[in-house]
Amino acid sequence: MATIVGTLLTSHVPAIGGAIARGLQDTPYWKPFFDGFRPVHEWLAQVRPDIAIVFYNDHGLNFFLDKMPTFAVGAAAAYHHADEGWGLPTSPPVAGDAALSWHVIEALVAAEFDPVTCQEMLIDHAVTVPLSLFWPGPSWPVKIVPICINTVQFPLPSASRCWKLGRSVGRAVRAWPGAQKVVVIGSGGLSHQLDGERAGFINKPFDLAFMRSLVEQPEWATRFNTRELVAQAGTQGVELLMWLAARAALPAGARQVAANYHIPISNTAAGMMLLAPEPEAEWAV
Ligand code: DHB
Ligand code: FE
Repeated sequence: MATIVGTLLTSHVPAIGGAIARGLQDTPYWKPFFDGFRPVHEWLAQVRPDIAIVFYNDHGLNFFLDKMPTFAVGAAAAYHHADEGWGLPTSPPVAGDAALSWHVIEALVAAEFDPVTCQEMLIDHAVTVPLSLFWPGPSWPVKIVPICINTVQFPLPSASRCWKLGRSVGRAVRAWPGAQKVVVIGSGGLSHQLDGERAGFINKPFDLAFMRSLVEQPEWATRFNTRELVAQAGTQGVELLMWLAARAALPAGARQVAANYHIPISNTAAGMMLLAPEPEAEWAV
């Protein structure tokens, strides 16, 4: 059976991709952010996952406002990155694990989620920036299964629905009759608002409470409805739903291997966590 080895959570601000492309990681603005990833690189070099499930939100590259699925799962052998206008270099295509994708899709439909299935799917900075942060080499040594959650156009799925989605994905992965090691990525957040009167809004106490909750009381954020999440985290800070879905794929007992929080990167509170299941933890059946 496939094994879930941990969850990797990070913000995905496009400017991070620009900093990587220009080699700015050790400059004063970027160093406190990039240094946070060193323990993650060590952990990944030891654990060597084969597959990454990537919970992320598309920002208008693959889906636009005219057709907006609440949940969409990629089922392709390769995913192409395309120019979104941020001035980032385009990454080479990322390999997919289509067989695992279909297994996850079947399990989700059986669990009464009804995702859009995408045999072609363009991926944006919300996939490529986390992959570049976690695996800074010239290529990424994992196949991916991208799972897109709408946080762009209201109505959004509730935090509690995203938790259940992540739990169902976790169950599906653990039932997959392969020997692969799977890491679950949550891409987005933390607090930020790019538009309107509160543009530039950041809520450090809320972000830190949310990060702590993922270790101590992982379902804590499911108490908030969408309006409350927007009020606390900002209109784009609702991307923290990806963290919640990814966290739900682990058992309740998970330990923090690494974490970092840095304000701001661009307009965003940049958070990062690596959580691994406790050896004795009980997985949801
Ligand atoms: C920024 C943050 C995002 O999450 C995003 O998708 C685009 C831009 C920013 O802070 O610049
Ligand atoms: Fe975003």
